[in-house]
Amino acid sequence: MAATTLLAIALLHTASASLSIRARYRGADFLEHFDFFSADDPTHGWVDYLDRGDAMAAGLVDVADDGTFFMGAGRPKTASARLPSVRIEGRHSIAGGLTVLDIEAMPVGCGAWPAFWMCNQTDPATAGTPAAWPAGGEIDVLEGVHLSRVSATTLHAGPGCSRKFKSAYAAPPYAGNETWNGDCNAGTGCGIVGAEGGMGAGFNDLGGGLPDFSRDEIDTADWRLPVAHFSLADDTGCGDAFKNQKIIFNLAFCGDWAGNVWGASTCADRAATCEAFLESQFDNDDYFAHLHFAVNEVSIFQTDAQFRDSRYAPPRPANASHAP
Ligand SMILES: *[C@@H]1O[C@H](CO)[C@@H](O)[C@H](O)[C@H]1NC(C)=O
Ligand SMILES: *[C@@H]1O[C@H](CO)[C@@H](O)[C@H](O)[C@H]1NC(C)=O
Ligand SMILES: *[C@@H]1O[C@H](CO)[C@@H](O)[C@H](O)[C@H]1NC(C)=O
Repeated sequence: MAATTLLAIALLHTASASLSIRARYRGADFLEHFDFFSADDPTHGWVDYLDRGDAMAAGLVDVADDGTFFMGAGRPKTASARLPSVRIEGRHSIAGGLTVLDIEAMPVGCGAWPAFWMCNQTDPATAGTPAAWPAGGEIDVLEGVHLSRVSATTLHAGPGCSRKFKSAYAAPPYAGNETWNGDCNAGTGCGIVGAEGGMGAGFNDLGGGLPDFSRDEIDTADWRLPVAHFSLADDTGCGDAFKNQKIIFNLAFCGDWAGNVWGASTCADRAATCEAFLESQFDNDDYFAHLHFAVNEVSIFQTDAQFRDSRYAPPRPANASHAP
């Protein structure tokens, strides 16, 4: 197994009480404990999200013999069609705790917009109407576009949440200091740009390591300052801004972020538009060889109270056979 791993964390209202393992998703668990979102991409990407059966049949998801879960995009069946890809959404609803992503590779390529994020799409006030976004809160743990080698970590929340940040990697003089930085209800949210090697090829090239998350109990007291630290203290207005969250992985192309910044990106000289670039790659095996996530594990640690307030839906049977 390759050494490249990443530790991506979301710590929601976590007390220092002991955190116990509540869920570990590996291999076929991603087929059973996650739903395949197959509606139109809400971010207007040049992408066609396939349902589980179609994604398996097309080989866009696969479980390797060593348990690594692969998930990515493929070639469209016809010229000028959108790229078939995947967006999987956890069937759980997490009230808080520590979520650990252990991953070997992220998708990399001009036009690509991969993300690992969390969202509550249900606003109690409007009975779950999608238009309620971002009232229940969204945590973009790790995302980036094109050939970026740095990650973006961003919060989206309803009105009233302005946040403070701490980041070990923020440019001086902000490094390590807690600073007010904006309104999470603004369209682009409030975010932190991470370090070189936090995304893309820089990330995939990095040999790394995780603390030992195979244990059943975790103590975060000795951890160093993270890439991103968002205080959700009451004086930030964010104390109640993030409701139960579900985990989402997706790989979009172009659209509201990757498409809109095409002209300013390092990919711009390859084609006039993001979509034109994708069309030019349909016969390029090398391009498609890098468009997948390789995930070892997602694990969720919680206190007893956080576990009690969460919901872990029973798995859907994924059938024995996996995509070739
Ligand atoms: C799993 O098997 C059931 C029953 O045979 C079938 O209806 C379903 O389509 C299968 N699902 C997948 C993802 O292959
Ligand atoms: C959104 O938050 C509400 C309130 O905490 C919760 O009932 C609901 O299950 C959450 N939705 C998801 C998808 O976690
Ligand atoms: C960050 O903290 C250091 C040490 O306390 C201080 O000298 C510096 O001015 C602070 N920077 C900011 C932006 O607050």
